[in-house]
Amino acid sequence: GVNIKGRSFLSLLDFTTSEIEYLLDLSVDLKRMKRAGVPHRYLEGKNVALVFEKTSTRTRCAFEVGAHDLGMGTTYLDPSGSQMGHKESIADTARVLGRMFDGIEYRGFEHEKVEKLARFSGVPVWNGLTNEFHPTQALADILTMREEFGDDLKGKKIVFMGQVGNTADSLAVICSKLGIDFCQCGPQEDVPGNRTFQPWIWERCQDEAAKTGAHLSVTDNVKEAVSGANAVYTDVWVGLGQPKELWESRIALMSPYRVTDEVMGMAADDAIFLHCLPSFHDTNTTVGAQIAQGFGISEMEVTDSVFEGPRSRVFDEAENRLHTIKAVMYATLG
Ligand code: CP
Repeated sequence: GVNIKGRSFLSLLDFTTSEIEYLLDLSVDLKRMKRAGVPHRYLEGKNVALVFEKTSTRTRCAFEVGAHDLGMGTTYLDPSGSQMGHKESIADTARVLGRMFDGIEYRGFEHEKVEKLARFSGVPVWNGLTNEFHPTQALADILTMREEFGDDLKGKKIVFMGQVGNTADSLAVICSKLGIDFCQCGPQEDVPGNRTFQPWIWERCQDEAAKTGAHLSVTDNVKEAVSGANAVYTDVWVGLGQPKELWESRIALMSPYRVTDEVMGMAADDAIFLHCLPSFHDTNTTVGAQIAQGFGISEMEVTDSVFEGPRSRVFDEAENRLHTIKAVMYATLG
């Protein structure tokens, strides 16, 4: 049987196909219990630290509610409220937290930081998002796919429309490990403001795909990418807090890759729409309104009609963050 007790969860590259499937099966069990109101306080008396150097809604709430459902206590360290990396080295903070907590979640920037935290703390560390990877997100994405298409997703196809980043990286990794076809569709030129896959990540995914039969590709041709896709996935084109010049060039670069009804119409008949959220589809949000005013556009990475439409599974996907993150904590601490 699979046993990942004591392990950190930093990147899905570190986990085998069976270990990933085990985490997904466990997520299904935990979701069923939660929905049926069956208590599952399996980790009563343990405590976890939730370190966020960037803001979060879903990830933070999933870790907090997940930990509480498992009977654990939580301490949240906000983006500015800890000494880590400023007044104290990562290695020192890691050793302190490791003396007090049974597990540590970390969201931040450089992936090396979460690796260092794991190396020095001596307790399981879970990656809540780094520049390179967003592994808990990918687990929730695939749980949502399973709910729609069944447990065996071999031969299904997911298209990621738009900007490469941590979400696309982890999606490519999990698809390659599970034999799911994956295509990233976006500009492929080496121009300022554009990001394509880092060669080392893409090569690792190709190695995994060779074992599982997954077909991985990148293209700038929307029709070619979306044809036959069972899921069309997207993410925001630019992060909050990034300079206006970047917004301007990124919007111009990414606009051809907006997920519209027409794009969904090119996919398989049963295709679903996925988005890790938050989304800027809604110009009623502060950021959405700024974009609409500043750039004279009313729609960003996805149209309202797709986001709110019958193929959208974005809120199931968001809920699944809870069940999958809970599975990760339980499997590594239980
Ligand atoms: N998808 C995701 O990571 O959401 P948050 O940034 O709200 O945690």
